[in-house]
Amino acid sequence: MSKKLFIETLGCAMNSRDSEHMIAELHEKEGYETVEDYRDADLILINTCSVRERPVHKLFSELGGFNKHKKEGAKIGVCGCTASHLGEEIIKRAPYVNFVLGARNVSKIAEVLHKDKAVEIDINYDESEFAFKDFRSSPYKAYINISIGCDKACTFCIVPKTRGEEISIPDALIVQEAQRAVDNGAKEVFLLGQNVNNYGRRFSGEHEKVNFTELLRRLSKIEGLERIRFTSPHPFHMDDEFIEEFAHNPKICKSMHMPLQSGSTKVLKDMKRGYTKEWFLNRVEKLRKEAPDATISTDIIVAFPGESDSDFEETLDVMKKVKFDQIFSFKYSPRPETEAEHFEDVVDGEIGSDRLTRLQSLHNEIMDEINAGHLGKTFRVYFEDLNRDGFVSGRSDNNIVIKVKGSEELLGEFRDVKITAIGRTILTGEILA
Ligand code: 5AD
Ligand code: SF4
Repeated sequence: MSKKLFIETLGCAMNSRDSEHMIAELHEKEGYETVEDYRDADLILINTCSVRERPVHKLFSELGGFNKHKKEGAKIGVCGCTASHLGEEIIKRAPYVNFVLGARNVSKIAEVLHKDKAVEIDINYDESEFAFKDFRSSPYKAYINISIGCDKACTFCIVPKTRGEEISIPDALIVQEAQRAVDNGAKEVFLLGQNVNNYGRRFSGEHEKVNFTELLRRLSKIEGLERIRFTSPHPFHMDDEFIEEFAHNPKICKSMHMPLQSGSTKVLKDMKRGYTKEWFLNRVEKLRKEAPDATISTDIIVAFPGESDSDFEETLDVMKKVKFDQIFSFKYSPRPETEAEHFEDVVDGEIGSDRLTRLQSLHNEIMDEINAGHLGKTFRVYFEDLNRDGFVSGRSDNNIVIKVKGSEELLGEFRDVKITAIGRTILTGEILA
């Protein structure tokens, strides 16, 4: 009988890709099959995120639950970003945890499994030439790492401490991985890195100079690959060449994530983001000129230390000017080992909550306006998910989630869809014959 693995994945797409890799390694080397219920598992893995504080509290309460109800003899492993930054402390606080495996060390899963109380969290471990396994949780879309780590020093961010220095993966490995994914039926690749458009700045060995724009060109030559997406680019590295390639290469999906964080140049400086409000707006203007139908999403942090009412108004001003199609917004949460952790002039919690509410309600108005404009339009949709209610959903090139009545024959297929009803997060349409 095969051994059973339960894995819970928190956080971002990079963590999802790490989980795919661990599932594949454990299957190949140790014969594990995944199960849906942790009480049936011989190994329980939790792949953690530490970008904000709340999930860390959640981790320990969840671990307690796992330990209480797990099958007798089952092992528990904590992996990912919180594993990197808390390390041994996890075993001190939860002594029943069998091992701790950092975000930069997931390739060692099959080894640590056999070492009780192992703590493998070297954040500069070089996994860049380690080929990730081809197992994918979706047959239609392939997540592919293009770089690991992050060299930026945003003062709010813990990631450089959990994923280490930035190293690019050799482009030949990326192209081969994409080719194999296409050979296995995927029509879309999703390139992943903390800072994708800084690709090529440093490789671990000798490597020809290849930047992100050139990587996109090379990937788009793969026959049968129809869509290329990527996350997350940094506004600072959005030069003209990159925006022009994005706009005019037909295989690159026209949705850009542009993490603003704040609309105030003063706050951006305190965050060490490397750009000003004007630079950000200038990049949006260039993007809109070159690719008028592209959608733009963003990340915003409110109540960063020192953010005054008028700084916050600057963020609202950028929101009104850009009219982002999607926002991910957060109240600032101090993180250990970051510069901002020690900043004074902390913003009162209630003021922060109020700013977050104002930001989100402004965005809801913007969304309603944008969505109303979509009614009656036609989008080419790549179908990926079968919903329980007789609908199949997918995404337009510009990343709008659209569902139609239908069944599994649509999965992995492209269709032109006319929008017949609008909702805030999902649009409904009909397939055009
Ligand atoms: N507090 C709040 N939000 C944060 N993010 C990163 N660090 C913090 C923090 N300390 C947000 C940023 C980032 C997204 C992934 O999470 O907006 O882009
Ligand atoms: Fe969370 Fe950032 Fe780690 Fe992704 S890289 S899991 S968002 S802390």
